[in-house]
Amino acid sequence: MNNDEKISTHYHHGNLLSAIEAGLKKQGIKPENASVEDLGPVDEFHIGGRAASIHFLDQLRISPSQTILDIGCGLGGSARFTAKTYGAKITGIDLTSEYIDVGQRLCEWVGLSDSITLQQGSALSLPFEDASFDGAFMMHVGMNIKDKHILISEVSRVLKPGAKFGIYDIMKGNDEELIYPVPWATTPETSWVAEPKDYRMALEANGFVVDEENNRHDFAMDFFKKMKAASEAAGGPPPLGLHVLMKQTTAEKIPNMVANLAAGRISPIEMIAIKDA
Ligand SMILES: C[S@@+](CC[C@H](N)C(=O)[O-])C[C@H]1O[C@@H](n2cnc3c(N)ncnc32)[C@H](O)[C@@H]1O
Repeated sequence: MNNDEKISTHYHHGNLLSAIEAGLKKQGIKPENASVEDLGPVDEFHIGGRAASIHFLDQLRISPSQTILDIGCGLGGSARFTAKTYGAKITGIDLTSEYIDVGQRLCEWVGLSDSITLQQGSALSLPFEDASFDGAFMMHVGMNIKDKHILISEVSRVLKPGAKFGIYDIMKGNDEELIYPVPWATTPETSWVAEPKDYRMALEANGFVVDEENNRHDFAMDFFKKMKAASEAAGGPPPLGLHVLMKQTTAEKIPNMVANLAAGRISPIEMIAIKDA
């Protein structure tokens, strides 16, 4: 198996659409009546879920006339939120074909198929013309990509001059080894967590100016504390959540992620960069 196959196998669920339907049903929601909000707990696969997306995406100043690329879009939750909130047209690309197939169905359910195109493919070889997007974002994807220079040179190539590129990735905080498994990797073999300075170097080498950098460590710790308290109070996880994506491995991956965060080994970082005009 090459790395792309290992990564898409890591994320493959096998029965994801049915699992999401079952979670909706527990709440008395028919799939065709589901809203972007109903799907938020399961289709935003990054620390902080929808709240993190709002904080991050608001900084991109997306407008209805824009065409935006979501790199490593997963199930397309952030793409649906962006289309609904800012009115833009979104293209999402992701390595994991099951996420793309399920994501397309979720777009149909919420009536956003006309504004969103989701397609299978690699961020390292984007199947788009040069200068075809007005903006781009990438959430919790870079940890699976070894060569940040190739990744960011591809993003730079498909963006128009002056376009904004937002990154919300888990980045390295200190030199301690991570505890695995974590949500993005079962072992270190497919995990390439890099320091903020590595992202900055790759951005600057590819024609970007970094305008903003925010460390979301405290927000992340608070998010997991609240998630744990809510789960304990309710006697278990909610019908829809990231446990639906990670199944039984959630019980190891989330505590490991929290331990890595608490030890300062990792932190979720936002970077907003602008491509040279
Ligand atoms: C943790 S999930 C985040 C998904 C989505 N961005 C979100 O926040 O909900 C990471 C995603 O990155 C995708 N991915 C990893 N490496 C990729 C690559 N080289 N090209 C495209 N997608 C990739 C995976 O398939 C997975 O869907």
